[in-house]
Amino acid sequence: MSSVQHYDVIIIGAGAAGLHCAWQAAAKGLKVMLVDHAKQAGKKILISGGGRCNFTNLYASPENYLSNNPHFCKSALSRYTQWDFIALVEKHGIAYHEKTLGQLFCDDSAKAIVHMLLDECAQYGAKVQLRTDIESVTYEAEQYRVQTSQGSLQAPQLVVACGGLSMPKLGATPLGYQLAEQFGHTILPVRAGLVPFTLHEQQKQAYSELSGLSLDVVATNERASFKEAMLFTHRGLSGPAMLQISSYWQPGETFYVDLLPGRDALTELQRLKQHHPRQSLRTALQQWFPKRFALTFADQQGWPDRNLADCSNALLENVASQLQNWPVKPNGTEGYRTAEVTLGGVDTDQLSSKTMASKLQPGLFFIGEVVDVTGWLGGYNFQWAWASAHACAESL
Ligand code: FDA
Repeated sequence: MSSVQHYDVIIIGAGAAGLHCAWQAAAKGLKVMLVDHAKQAGKKILISGGGRCNFTNLYASPENYLSNNPHFCKSALSRYTQWDFIALVEKHGIAYHEKTLGQLFCDDSAKAIVHMLLDECAQYGAKVQLRTDIESVTYEAEQYRVQTSQGSLQAPQLVVACGGLSMPKLGATPLGYQLAEQFGHTILPVRAGLVPFTLHEQQKQAYSELSGLSLDVVATNERASFKEAMLFTHRGLSGPAMLQISSYWQPGETFYVDLLPGRDALTELQRLKQHHPRQSLRTALQQWFPKRFALTFADQQGWPDRNLADCSNALLENVASQLQNWPVKPNGTEGYRTAEVTLGGVDTDQLSSKTMASKLQPGLFFIGEVVDVTGWLGGYNFQWAWASAHACAESL
C-alpha cells in the first residue's frame, strides 16, 4: 500500500471521456491508470438516453456547442467525428438506430457502450481502478503524485476527466474544477444546463394538472431557437425544447414559446369566426390542442368564455399572439439534481485546442465536460467527450 505505483499517464474519472482516452493512450503503448471513486465505470453512460445511450449525433458540428470560445471545440471535433465513433460501435457489433434529428441510440442497452470501452481498455492493458478516492494531487520533479485511498500513484502526465456537477447522486463532484484551480486555471462560472424549468407558484399549480402532456413547440430567446417537444411536469416545464433553451437561459429572463409552429393562428381564428361564429373560443382551441390544455391555458390567459362571433378582433389578436409567442418567465431550474450537463468550467483560453493540454502546467490535460464546452441535447455531449479524449490521447 505504501509503495508508489508508476505509470506513464494517470486519468482521473472513468466516465465517457476518461474511458475513451484510457484505451487510446494504452493502444499507443503507454502504461495507463484510470481511477474513479465510483463503484461502476461510466455511470452516466448507463443512465443516458433512457438506458439506451444517445452516443452521438449524425449532424454534430461546432454550432451545436456552447463555450466562451466557440472556436475551441472545432479542432477536436473535426479530428474525431461522429463517424469515427460509429465505426467503433460497429466494430463491436453494437446495433443502433437513429431516433430523431440525427440522434443515434443503442437498440438494446447503454451497457453495450460501457462494455465496449472497458473491453478496449482491457485489450490494450489500461488499468481501470474503481472505488478509489482521490486524497491529493501534487506535482514535483516533473511528476504528478496522486494520493488515493488505494495508495500512491505517480506519472509525468495527468488527465482530468472528472466531468461536471450535474447529478451528484451519480458521483459528480467539483474535483475537476478544484484541480484546475490548484494548477492556476480559471473556472468560468458553472451552472446547470439541459435542465427542466420550475414555474412560479401560481403557474405551477395551474399547469401541474397538465403534468405528462406534451406539445410540439418552438422555444426561442434572443440567443437560440429549438423546435421540439415541451412537456408539462408537476414542477414546471420539461421536454427537449425546454432542456435545450435552458442552456441559453439566464435567471430572471423570459423566453417565448410558439405553441402552434408553422401555423398562422390569427388567420385561422378569423376564418373560423367567419364560418362558425357560434363556436366558442374554447372549442376552437381544441382543434389544435387536447381539451385539458385548451381549457387551462384559456383560463390562465383570462380569455372570456364566449362565441367567436362575440370575440373582437383585438381579442383574437391577443389569443393568437399568446399562442404563438407565449412568454414564459420561469422561477428557476431544477438545478444540478436533474441537469444533464454543467455549463461553464475550465477556461478554454488556457488549454490547447489541439491536445487539451494546459498552457500553464506541463503534462496536465482536461477533457470532457469539465472543460467549458457544452453540447446541445441529442448525443452532442458524448461526441465532445469522445473527441476531446481522442485529441488528448493522440498527444500523450
Ligand atoms: P462523466 O460525468 O461521464 O464522468 C466523470 C467521472 O469522474 C465519473 O465516473 C465520476 O464518478 C468521476 N469522478 C467525479 N468526481 C470524482 C472524484 N472526486 N474522484 C474520483 N472520480 C470522480 N449526453 C449525450 O451525449 N447523450 C445522452 O443521451 C446523454 N444523456 C444523459 C442523461 C443524463 C441523466 C445525464 C446526467 C447526462 C446525459 N448526457 C448525455 C451528458 C453526458 O452524460 C455527459 O456530458 C458525459 O458523461 C460527460 O463525460 P465526462 O467523461 O466528461 O464526465
